Amino acid sequence: MAKLPIIVAPDPRLKLKCRRVERVDAETRRLMDDMLETMYAAPGIGLAAPQVGHPVRIIVVDIARKDEPPQPLRMANPEIVWASDHDATYEEGCLSLPEHYADVVRPAEVRIRYLDHENEIREIEAKGLLATCIQHEMDHLDGVLFVDHISALKRNIILRKLLKAKKNKTPAQPATVAAGTAL
Ligand code: NI
Repeated sequence: MAKLPIIVAPDPRLKLKCRRVERVDAETRRLMDDMLETMYAAPGIGLAAPQVGHPVRIIVVDIARKDEPPQPLRMANPEIVWASDHDATYEEGCLSLPEHYADVVRPAEVRIRYLDHENEIREIEAKGLLATCIQHEMDHLDGVLFVDHISALKRNIILRKLLKAKKNKTPAQPATVAAGTAL
């Protein structure tokens, strides 16, 4: 497995509509596992493929607490087949919008159909944090970020701060090559 760099907003790669996975094969499984490793290391509870530069409909989620055994979910082509009429509000964050949070309203319960890591069709019912997390990750597959669910005013404040943080990043210094370093 390999840890992948996470793309930070604003970035056009986070605004793409991702393509469907035709079949979950070994390559797809590798991407799913790399995404899980990247997510656990961040640390985060969900990650979508476009956040690591792959415009395909794949998400990974694990909402288990630190003191619980891991419960990784690997999903390709996730679809909401049912959503509850009642909503829930969670304060959401995102690995692509580091250090920013906002209340987002979504259906409280959803039923999701997806292809698992063995290319089997599965369905799960999710509520609470799991429902929120899956819907947040699925949004990424259509280029939607959690800030797209809040007021334009709040969204612009967050995106402007992120852009400023990117611009203020000190450019990489030329690496000092120590004597005798093999290149
Ligand atoms: Ni996110």
